[in-house]
Amino acid sequence: MAESPAIADATEPDLAGLVEIYNEVIATSTAVYSSDPVSLGDRRDWWQARTAQGYPVLVARDARGVCGFSTFGDFRAWPGYRFTVEHTVHVRADGRGRGVGTLLVQALFPRAARLGKHVMIAGVDAANDASIRFHERLGFEQRGRLREVGFKFNRWLDLVFLQRRI
Ligand SMILES: CC(C)(COP(=O)(O)OP(=O)(O)OC[C@H]1O[C@@H](n2cnc3c(N)ncnc32)[C@H](O)[C@@H]1OP(=O)(O)O)[C@@H](O)C(=O)NCCC(=O)NCCS
Repeated sequence: MAESPAIADATEPDLAGLVEIYNEVIATSTAVYSSDPVSLGDRRDWWQARTAQGYPVLVARDARGVCGFSTFGDFRAWPGYRFTVEHTVHVRADGRGRGVGTLLVQALFPRAARLGKHVMIAGVDAANDASIRFHERLGFEQRGRLREVGFKFNRWLDLVFLQRRI
C-alpha cells in the first residue's frame, strides 16, 4: 500500500507538475471550460497573484512528483462576496481514486477558516458525476444547475454549483 502523499503549499519547482496535470484535464475532459493549454509562465503569474492575495495553492507530492493540486480564489469580484471562495482540485490521472483529492480539499478548509471565509463553492460540470459525488462526500450540497452556460467539444455544458459552510 502506497504512503499517503504529503500536502504542502506549492513552491515554484512544483509548477511544472501542476501545469502537466492541468493541461491533461483541459485536453481530455470538460472539468475545465477551456481548450487552451496553459504555459509555465502563465501559471507562475497565477500562483504569484493567488499567494499575494493570501490564498493557498496546495500540492500533493508522491514519489513521482506533484500528483495533485487544490486552491481557492474569490467567488465573485464584488465586496459583498468577500466571505465566499470558489475552489479547484485536480489529481494526476494515474493517482485518482486513492484519496489524494480528498486530502487536498480537506486541507483547504482550515485555510479558508483562518482567512475568515464563510462559504466554499464548487462549480462542477453536470456530466462529471464522479466529482459531484466526491464533493458531496466532503460535505458540499448541490444548490443549482445552470443550463448550457459552457461550450466545449462542440456541445453545450451545464454547470452545477455546490456549496459548503466553512
Ligand atoms: C475529481 C477528483 C479531484 C477526485 O480526486 P480523487 O483523488 O480521484 O478522489 P478520492 O480518491 O479522494 O475520492 C474518490 C472519489 O473520487 C471520484 N473519482 C473521480 N475520478 C476517479 C477515478 N478515476 N477513479 C476513482 N475515483 C474517482 C469518485 O467519486 C470516487 O468516489 P467513489 O468511490 O464513490 O466512486 C479527481 O478524480 C480528478 O482530478 N478528476 C479529473 C479532473 C476533475 O474532475 N476535477 C474536478 C473538477 S470539479
